[in-house]
Amino acid sequence: MKKHLLGLEGMTREEIEEILDKADEMRALLDAGKKDNDFLRGKCVVTMFYENSTRTRTSFVTATKYCGAMNVNLAVGTSSVQKGESLIDTAHTLESNKADAIIIRHQASGAAKLLADNVNACVINAGDGMHEHPTQALLDLLTMRRHFGKTDGLNVSIIGDIKHSRVARSNIYGLQTMGAKVTVYGPKTLIPTGIEQSGARVATSIEDALTGADVVMGLRIQLERQEKGMFPSIGEYAKYYGINTERLKLAKKGAVLMHPMPVNRGVEMTHEVCDCDDSLLLEQVTNGVAVRMAILTLMLEDKK
Ligand code: CP
Repeated sequence: MKKHLLGLEGMTREEIEEILDKADEMRALLDAGKKDNDFLRGKCVVTMFYENSTRTRTSFVTATKYCGAMNVNLAVGTSSVQKGESLIDTAHTLESNKADAIIIRHQASGAAKLLADNVNACVINAGDGMHEHPTQALLDLLTMRRHFGKTDGLNVSIIGDIKHSRVARSNIYGLQTMGAKVTVYGPKTLIPTGIEQSGARVATSIEDALTGADVVMGLRIQLERQEKGMFPSIGEYAKYYGINTERLKLAKKGAVLMHPMPVNRGVEMTHEVCDCDDSLLLEQVTNGVAVRMAILTLMLEDKK
């Protein structure tokens, strides 16, 4: 494993498999209720979240503790960031507290790279602007691999706000490296120009996107990153792009439903779909802890 994890662009299949294989070991520990591990005893992991988060932050904190390391959380809203302290000065301060790894979520694309270029600690990107969210894509890959026993040849349809989605970007890189075929669909204004160059197919309708899919992945409408007028109304979005039980019937038999969450229930997908037997939404959350335990251990464990 490389020193930093900034994105899945350019990551090899072997590098991804190393993380997924280790995550399978960690998932076995979680399933056995073994949370008092000591792989990372004496290590200190700092979480710096400049944007809101439930899953990513809590799962990194949980993963840190389940591996036996200490967690220090920088509460950005009550920190000296509010007095105008720069990202680099903040990170140097945390590093001077002897942090071994810094996990950062930031509204600016490239913030994690900037940090990695300026500190000695390992840096993990927990989502930077509209760029990448690599640990989300890794947990998505783990969830698919555990469910289907493989990722090669899977048809994965990603529906929604592709343009603003760091989850979509990381998944497009990771899924194709792992042999899956990716289709994207959403309002034309939310499909980035030239996305076909990434290898993803752009569907022509919601029906086209769902037909034959093994995995249907909904994405959150990111109202905080949009200029107004990207689509007429939330109601119309649900009508033309929402995933419902009737539309899901077009997917392959045995297809599964995924979403990075949080979900705008009734918009990207109906309540019924979120909670159906084929929904892997909460399985993704558990796999998120396993993937983050794996990454921290591969990065920080002292080699015997
Ligand atoms: N999937 C995800 O990144 O969720 P949070 O924003 O709650 O961390």
